[in-house]
Amino acid sequence: MTRREFIVNGFRAGVVLLGAKGVYNTSRYQLRLKKITLLVPALPSSFKGLKIALLSDFHSSLIVSEGLISTAARICMQERPDLIALTGDFITGTNEVGGSAKVKMEKGDMKYINRCVDALSTLSAPMGIYGVLGNHDFWSGQGAVDAICDSFTKKIGVIWLRNMSVRLQRGDQEIYLLGVDDYWEKSCSLLDAYIALEAEVVKILLSHNPDINIEIEALRKRIDVVLSGHTHGGQVVFPYIGSPFLPSTAGQKYISGLVKDGSRQTYITNGVGNNMVPMRYNCPPEVVMITLS
Ligand SMILES: [Fe+2]
Repeated sequence: MTRREFIVNGFRAGVVLLGAKGVYNTSRYQLRLKKITLLVPALPSSFKGLKIALLSDFHSSLIVSEGLISTAARICMQERPDLIALTGDFITGTNEVGGSAKVKMEKGDMKYINRCVDALSTLSAPMGIYGVLGNHDFWSGQGAVDAICDSFTKKIGVIWLRNMSVRLQRGDQEIYLLGVDDYWEKSCSLLDAYIALEAEVVKILLSHNPDINIEIEALRKRIDVVLSGHTHGGQVVFPYIGSPFLPSTAGQKYISGLVKDGSRQTYITNGVGNNMVPMRYNCPPEVVMITLS
């Protein structure tokens, strides 16, 4: 190969690599709006067209700015959702895995909780804002859990679904929205959330961790739709391989997007923030707008 051919071929290889990077690598700041229509066969007619915004995994921390979270809120509100679902990991846990109730809240936790609630202060929806807690929220201890619940309820009216359900009514028809504590916590109880509900009514479950499907299967409960986050879509995802680290016992099954288990549909969002490393690869942060049909 001549020197000229070497330079030309090197240039071509560079263009190909940069092109591939452009296709696959999405910056952790490039929030996208993802719109999907979810066909729920048993949905009462008056709920057809209901718009649910799904936002998750803000991870307000040193490596996730208030600006990124407030941009997610702005994108969400431009779509005028009927209902907003926040599925946990508002902050990044500052203590050991499994520390839960025994650990103390660190000074930084309150700062990042305030930053997160301020960034989301523009959220509102006529049918309400509902929230569940993620593993990282618990990993900063009971003080952090209390502070998250109090501040989000006082400042933006979040209704927390901690192993409970609420009835949503349109006209004379109803569906139920359920929520559970994080699946890795002992306090998670799908049975409590499900209590007194009739099998045939449509149920949408908010669960930070999509592995709740394992519990749903074990308890043989009918849930029509599960809305989750937790996986960050893998955060770093390689083509053909997937994510080298996914916090799920179901392998890559619940990494991102729509997953069907029989008639039950689970939607897993990539979330807004990031954790562990300040990067995303082939896995953009997102705001999800779900229209029920
Ligand atoms: Fe998370």
